[in-house]
Amino acid sequence: MDRSPQINLIDYIDQAVLHFGPDLCISEHYSEKVLEIFDLSPTQMRGIHLKHLLLDRCDSAASFKEATIRNLHDLFAWDPKRDTQTKVQASQSFEEKIFRLPTECRIVIDEAKKNLALSWRWVLAPEGRLLRIVLILEDVTEALAMQQSLELQNEKLLTLGEMTANFAHDIAAPTQLIDLCSHQIEQAVKEAQAEVSILFADQNEGEGLAIKQHFEQKFEDILQHFSSIYQATKRIDDLHRAVRNSFRQSDTKEHFSIHELLEECLVLARSRSHGYPMQVTCPKSFWITADRSRWGSMISNLINNACDALRDQPEPRLRQPAIHIEVSLGPTDLNFDFEDSGPGVPESLRERIFQSRFSTKKLGQGTGLGLSICKNLVEELGGTIQVLSSQKLGGACFHITVPLSSLNVSLHSA
Ligand SMILES: Nc1ncnc2c1ncn2[C@@H]1O[C@H](COP(=O)(O)OP(=O)(O)OP(=O)(O)O)[C@@H](O)[C@H]1O
Ligand SMILES: [Mg+2]
Repeated sequence: MDRSPQINLIDYIDQAVLHFGPDLCISEHYSEKVLEIFDLSPTQMRGIHLKHLLLDRCDSAASFKEATIRNLHDLFAWDPKRDTQTKVQASQSFEEKIFRLPTECRIVIDEAKKNLALSWRWVLAPEGRLLRIVLILEDVTEALAMQQSLELQNEKLLTLGEMTANFAHDIAAPTQLIDLCSHQIEQAVKEAQAEVSILFADQNEGEGLAIKQHFEQKFEDILQHFSSIYQATKRIDDLHRAVRNSFRQSDTKEHFSIHELLEECLVLARSRSHGYPMQVTCPKSFWITADRSRWGSMISNLINNACDALRDQPEPRLRQPAIHIEVSLGPTDLNFDFEDSGPGVPESLRERIFQSRFSTKKLGQGTGLGLSICKNLVEELGGTIQVLSSQKLGGACFHITVPLSSLNVSLHSA
């Protein structure tokens, strides 16, 4: 009779699983992953003692290894009938012992270090005695390295954030001073202009006229420079306001204008946008009640992603760079569309891009957290976020809908 090959189910588990009994020797029941972690052949694995397999490779202190072996022998030697009176006490006492076993360790194989997460399961006989232990091992080296690098990055960002917030705060006072002094100087220049114009009122020919015209031109030029100074101080003030608001810590909700928040996020994105045209279609009357700083991070991430997509597009560009953000009110939802003229997101990646830590950007340019943070925020509010192809601009379109009820949307007169 034709028999299909036998399938070993534990080989389909991504973790390494092994069993051992009172002699602490690994039984035949172990998954393929065990061989991979310890770099052993099935022959080397046969009947190996837990001490040789795991503890001898572990870089912990000898006393720790001895204590682990002692605890395991204790567990197998333990007789629930002798040690405790009730069944509940028996199981509590057993669990206390098992919880003393290590849950993580670092092993060294051929000079390579691997961090393992250990989880212990047990098989008891009907009368409560321990028959076998099942040890589940997971190689968490990469996850740990990633976590450490994220923590480091997070720490750096926090420090940078604090410095930026302080900088934004400190830049406000001198900017206001420049603005104030400029207005006073402009006023003085206008007065001087009026006085000179009275002084030269009757100079309508010859050298007198030439001097009068020379001064008129000089005053015009000086006054023109003032308008450039006001534009620059306004820009610094917008930046300062946007940075200050984005660092404002609030776990509480507030009522705010979406249009204003979008404008702030665009100001913050200016250095990343390389002058790409960014258009916003959002009535100034839309106000919502939400966590303003979380909404700010979500919008900034979507704008930054669009800017990155335009920047990374290979030359020659298929389309003119453009970003368009539209906010519209539906019968039951508030809708947001973030569209760009970049390369778009291929069908095959449309689900994965929302996973935490998924990024196609070069190392150091993206953590892959942005869209998963957006998704969490939108879903907490009962909404949805999806990526489509932009009909208008040809690149990506991130479409968000959030129920009006969860945002307490109101319309204010602009
Ligand atoms: N507008 C877009 N056009 C094309 N691809 C995009 C766009 N937005 C996001 N993506 C893709 O989705 C991936 C995940 O985006 P996400 O914002 O989560 O992380 P990231 O931008 O790579 O890093 P960061 O955590 O710094 O935001 C990006 O790496 C990119 O491949
Ligand atoms: Mg991003």
